[in-house]
Amino acid sequence: MYKIVKRDQIADNIFEFWINAPHVTKTGRAGQFVVLRIDENGERIPLTISATKGDDVRIVFMATGKTTQQLAAMQVGESIRDVAGPLGKPSDVKKWGRCAVIGGGVGIACLPILARELREAGNDVTGIIGARNEGLLLLEDELRDACDELVICTDDGSKGHHGYPADVLKEMVSDQILDAVWIIGPAIMMKITSLATFDSGIKTFVSLNPIMVDGTGMCGSCRVTIAGEMKFACVDGPEFDAHEVDWDELMNRQRTYTGQEKESLEHYHE
Ligand code: FES
Repeated sequence: MYKIVKRDQIADNIFEFWINAPHVTKTGRAGQFVVLRIDENGERIPLTISATKGDDVRIVFMATGKTTQQLAAMQVGESIRDVAGPLGKPSDVKKWGRCAVIGGGVGIACLPILARELREAGNDVTGIIGARNEGLLLLEDELRDACDELVICTDDGSKGHHGYPADVLKEMVSDQILDAVWIIGPAIMMKITSLATFDSGIKTFVSLNPIMVDGTGMCGSCRVTIAGEMKFACVDGPEFDAHEVDWDELMNRQRTYTGQEKESLEHYHE
């Protein structure tokens, strides 16, 4: 059992939980994830490691489905049945030179740990974060601290650049000042944003979020196609070269259980 040691709502419907899980924090690195199960009969949910401190790991999630709403209702002192991890491969952190880390929506929560590791490896890091509006921006102060500079974008112009992280990335690409880019957010955002680096060939990583069940390479539910080859996101990723991803297949597969998820949420609220 893994105790919730801190819990906050940090934006509209977005929650930050710190969970005591020493086996995760001992080796957990940027890019890796955990799979949570609230109770014995619970659904498994994969969540990227957002930060670690001592024996505690931070996860950040939007309460959109039945399980994430159940999780959001839990309080400090309560325990989660399973926290499996760290799973997946860590981000390719090395001395690249000038890096940009880009987050959209709840994906922003994955950036602080990555930005810190990249800076520790001697890189210069620009953070670019985007959300629909100011109320959905996350961890701004923490990212300002973790990055050399931070650029904020909102779709409605309520804060920072009025537009998308892709606009800022395009400018950086044309100024020829980038060596590597990470993009983490909804699939459509990662697909569109990564087009900005396609022609230049700048190494661009994305963290894929297909449906996952076991998270250990056994069930095959997380299969994705990368450079024409089948890979399992949970063990071969979740980070892959953005320019090699079959985005249409990923987005189609993400929609597989939309009906069942809606039904399960309706039952939960009955
Ligand atoms: Fe089952 Fe990846 S989640 S193989």
